[in-house]
Amino acid sequence: MFLFKLSKEWPDLAAAEVKYLLGLKRMRVLDGYVIAKFSAKKLKLADRLALTKYVYRILFECDECDLFQRFERFDWKAVVEGSFCIKAFKHRLEKELAKFVWIKLKNPRVDLENPDTKIVVLKAGKRCFCCIELLKIKHAFAERRPDKRPGFHPSTLKPKLALALVNLCSAKKCVLDPFCGIGGILIEAGLMGLKVVGYDIDPKMIEKAKMNLDFYGIKNYRLVVGDARKIKRKYRYVVSDLPYGLSTFNIERERLYLGFLINLKRILLKRAVIVFPHFVNYKKLIKRAGLKLKDEFEIYVHKNLRRKICVIEP
Ligand SMILES: C[S@@+](CC[C@H](N)C(=O)[O-])C[C@H]1O[C@@H](n2cnc3c(N)ncnc32)[C@H](O)[C@@H]1O
Repeated sequence: MFLFKLSKEWPDLAAAEVKYLLGLKRMRVLDGYVIAKFSAKKLKLADRLALTKYVYRILFECDECDLFQRFERFDWKAVVEGSFCIKAFKHRLEKELAKFVWIKLKNPRVDLENPDTKIVVLKAGKRCFCCIELLKIKHAFAERRPDKRPGFHPSTLKPKLALALVNLCSAKKCVLDPFCGIGGILIEAGLMGLKVVGYDIDPKMIEKAKMNLDFYGIKNYRLVVGDARKIKRKYRYVVSDLPYGLSTFNIERERLYLGFLINLKRILLKRAVIVFPHFVNYKKLIKRAGLKLKDEFEIYVHKNLRRKICVIEP
């Protein structure tokens, strides 16, 4: 049984990112944590998660009043390797709990700075979870801020959200962004080792996307100047942030979106994650194109714009 500590920014999206990337059928979401049972093999994907901070393995779960008794009975020899430390939701519990671990070990060693085994006691809802920390997830998002890229455009997505979208799509090998702009989504997917394909109607955008992908050392990419409504090749996974600020009336924006979605229906094999602006009737458009809306999430950008993140299947 595993437990994911989610970042607080977009809790629903964070939980869905875990669900889709790891392909979980069932999970519990409690107070900013996801709890799920799955084969440990899937954990190799977890360091891709953009909106999870830590991954733990659960040793046991109990009420707070039973914590000392459970610690006393637990076979710590079986899980503690090398030095250890305990982090608990109440600081004053840590020393008390550490005594139970200490007496069960042959050569106990406490290291508060850099332990080999970090035992973490969390409280989620009314329950306590005693865990071993498996993974602290760190991405260098700040180093990839849009203003640090050689090719800049203000409409680009922030790296953290871009990676979360790729994970939500659950793409593992290759991903298409049909409106790639300067490549915000492609950079994150490329850095995760995926082959990335980007289309944009504007040759200047494609030029900047190329500069950006080269800048981050991404090699496995294909960029095409072209219309997203005319892509012919089929793709298992598609992730895209649609152009919102068209200097046209709503009717033309909707025509572009519908034209794209109709083509998406032709080329999509497995799953797409498409970002719409809130002021468009995206549900109607998705339905008209014959696609299925599986899930949706909302992100506040500013008072005139909320992003609607849609998980779509053919
Ligand atoms: C919101 S931006 C994409 C930003 C990108 N997701 C990023 O993070 O850098 C939308 C892009 O769609 C492009 N675009 C507009 N109409 C298009 C069409 N019919 N086919 C392909 N690209 C198009 C624009 O040139 C623009 O670069």
